[in-house]
This record gives sequence, structure tokens and C-alpha cells, in this order.
Amino acid sequence: MAPGYKFFIQTYGCQMNVYDSAVISTLMEQAGFQPVKTEEEADILIYNTCAVREHAENRAMGRILSAKGRYPLRKIVVVGCMAERRKSELKEKYGIKYVFGPREYKNIPGVLINQEAHYINLNYDDILPEQEGVSAYVSVMRGCNRFCTYCIVPYVRKEEVCRQPENIIDEVKKLIKDGIKEVILLGQNVNRYKYRDINFPELLKWVAEETDIKRLNFLTSHPADISSELFEVMVGHNNITKFIHLPVQSGSDKILNKMNRGYTVRDYKNIVKFARGLIPEITITTDVIVGFPGETDEDFQKTLDFIKEIEFDYAFMFKYSPRKGTLSALFDETITEREKKERLSKLIELQNKITYKKNERLIGRERKILVLGTAKRDGVMGKDATGKLVVFKGDSKRGSFVKINITGITGWTPVGKVVKSVNREM
Ligand code: 5AD
Ligand code: SF4
Repeated sequence: MAPGYKFFIQTYGCQMNVYDSAVISTLMEQAGFQPVKTEEEADILIYNTCAVREHAENRAMGRILSAKGRYPLRKIVVVGCMAERRKSELKEKYGIKYVFGPREYKNIPGVLINQEAHYINLNYDDILPEQEGVSAYVSVMRGCNRFCTYCIVPYVRKEEVCRQPENIIDEVKKLIKDGIKEVILLGQNVNRYKYRDINFPELLKWVAEETDIKRLNFLTSHPADISSELFEVMVGHNNITKFIHLPVQSGSDKILNKMNRGYTVRDYKNIVKFARGLIPEITITTDVIVGFPGETDEDFQKTLDFIKEIEFDYAFMFKYSPRKGTLSALFDETITEREKKERLSKLIELQNKITYKKNERLIGRERKILVLGTAKRDGVMGKDATGKLVVFKGDSKRGSFVKINITGITGWTPVGKVVKSVNREM
């Protein structure tokens, strides 16, 4: 296979995978391959997969096997976390020749043109992937050393490797030149970032001060590694979005302990108290898992009470999915699927009410919005300075800033009317 052939990438899973697909695409283009937007047009089909829950794996596997049946003569390339976890099965059982884990992407173009795979345990510091639009991701670290007992990530993305701050700054500057207005720094647990003597709050401060980025944020934070310094940097910089995604996973200390999370419910509440004390308008979102082994009705009630008390702006809620190879897959006292489903719907029902109530409080308020693009149903969609999505009517340009008056809620989303366009962010 020679360069000049067309490739298509389908991405599943988290923001890191979205970023990695941009890395792979850039590597492929540098080697002379041409990106296309559909499977039909492509000679090479790349599937960037997720392994966090069984459902995510099943979806990707279904699509890969159906593509294999439909396009027997095309090259099928499987990458990402499932590729790492099920490498031998993909190769031996399903006959897929090209399988690359998250650390092997530099090998993809070379192997496709029949060279040896010669990169191992690489980092991607020298790759500044092309990204289009208003918003872009920049990875600051890869891997995870935390080993929460339910999580496959440390096994498939391996140990933490932090990126040079100078490379990060270069990438943000390049993105700004390309028209990007919002950058989201990515890491499985950004609070463990450390390069030379630079920690994450220092890195964040550096990016906020050394570049002209209009909006800056980061994903994901871990309650056991977060410090007050982070919030102090956030409050001190107008271009940092007042938003934090801080997964709690459970409202029961017993379950948090079994998950090996490294904090208690009380620790978590103290972080929220501190954050809201310093930044009253801060948007806080979370992740919650229901039906972890050993989660009794009482433990689940603690999670409900906790969610009620904290009032998250939004929560991503999941049924526990045992992942082979993780410690919790060996735990007994498993919860039935029916019970998990019931708990999940109860939790979603509660959080939906809270999300609505919190968004309702915005009615009558003015917000400065970064316009992201057209909304799903009707109108324009944008993000305020606390990371909240807002929909409004008008023909505002992508990447521009407008002042909006919030007039109501549709579904759970705040909707508004344009007050005026603003050329400059605060
Ligand atoms: N089962 C269910 N949810 C999981 N997550 C991670 N691993 C699992 C699992 N085995 C959830 C956590 C994490 C989010 C990205 O996915 O809530 O924060
Ligand atoms: Fe998984 Fe825990 Fe690492 Fe997050 S911190 S990626 S949940 S092991």
C-alpha cells in the first residue's frame, strides 16, 4: 500500500480519543495519506475504540465486524483502548491485521506501507495535530497510575507520562493561529501533572498568561489530587472557564474505599465548599457509578442524598460494568442488572430535576457566550464563561462572542436572546 490512499477514522469514547484521532489523522497526512469523511470513500478504515464499559466495546466491535464483512478488500485498522485490551482476539479470532494500542500510533503509517513497527513507548510531544473549529483539545499527559479498582484505563493507557510545558504552549499558540478560541487541556487525571518542578496549576497559569487563548479549561480532575492552588489560578484569570468536572463516583465512604478512590465524602464536600466559596458561579459536574459490587440500598441512598446536597450542574451517570483484568471484576456481592437499572433511573430522575432547577436560576441573567455553531434542533449554540451551554436565535458567527439574556429553558438547556455582539472577551 502506497501513500495517496484515502483513510476514514471513526472515533468512540472520551475526549482523549477525539484528540488521538486528530493525532493519527495528522500522522497519516504527513505520510501522504488523504483523509475522507465517509467509510464508503476510504481505502483504509480506522476505528478508534473505547474499553471503559462493555457497552462501548460492543458498539465498536459491532461496527468493525460489519465493516469487515462489507469491505473485505479494504484495510481495517483498530486502535484505542479496546485494541490494546483485546489485541490477540482481534488479530487471531477476527483476522484483523492492523491493531495498535494508545502508545503505538506513530507506527500506523509505516506499518501500512509495509515497514517494521519500530516505535515503542513513544510520546507524542512533537506532534501538533490539526484541529478545526472553535474548540480544541490539547493533551498534557497520558496514562494513569491511580488504579481505581473498576477502571481499565491504567492497564490499556499504561503509566503516566507528562508532556513538556513548552510543547503544550507551542500547540496552543498554533491552534490560536488556526482560529481556535477555546482550548481544553486533557489528561486522565490532570492534577497529577508534573514536569520538572511544574505542577498542573502552574501549567494552567502559564498557558493562560503566555498565550492569547480566549477560553481555557481542563479535563479531568481527581478529588484526591486536587489542590486549592488550582482554584486560585482559576479565579485569578479571566480567560479560564469557571468550570470543573470532578468525578465523585459514589456518595458512600464504604464504596469509595472499595473503589480505591483515595478520598471520603467529607473530603469531597470540603473541596466543593472551598471552590464555591472562592468562585460562587462555578459550574461543577461529576461522574457517578451505580451498582458497584457490595453497594447496598443504604449505600445507594447515601449517593442520592449526596447528589441532592451538592446540586451538581450536571452528572454523567453509569451502571457499573465489570472489566476483566481489573480488581473489582473479582469482587463478590455483585448487583443484578435489574437493580442497577432501577438505581440508575432513580439517580437520573433526581439529577434531571437538579439540572433543570440550576439552569432555571439563570433566567433573567446576562451571559457572555462564545458561539460554537448551529444547535441540534434550531438556532445557535454557545458556551458561557462557566462552561454552560446556551441556545439562542440569530445568525452569530462561529467563534464570535455575544451577550445573551437568558429567557427560558427548553428541555434542560437554557435559551436566550442576543443583547449585543462583543468583539472582545472580558
Ligand atoms: N463501569 C462503569 N463506569 C465506569 N467508569 C469507568 N470505569 C467504569 C466501569 N467499569 C466511569 C467512571 C469514570 C467515567 C469516565 O467512566 O465514572 O469517571
Ligand atoms: Fe480510571 Fe481512576 Fe485513572 Fe480515572 S483516575 S482513569 S477512573 S483509574
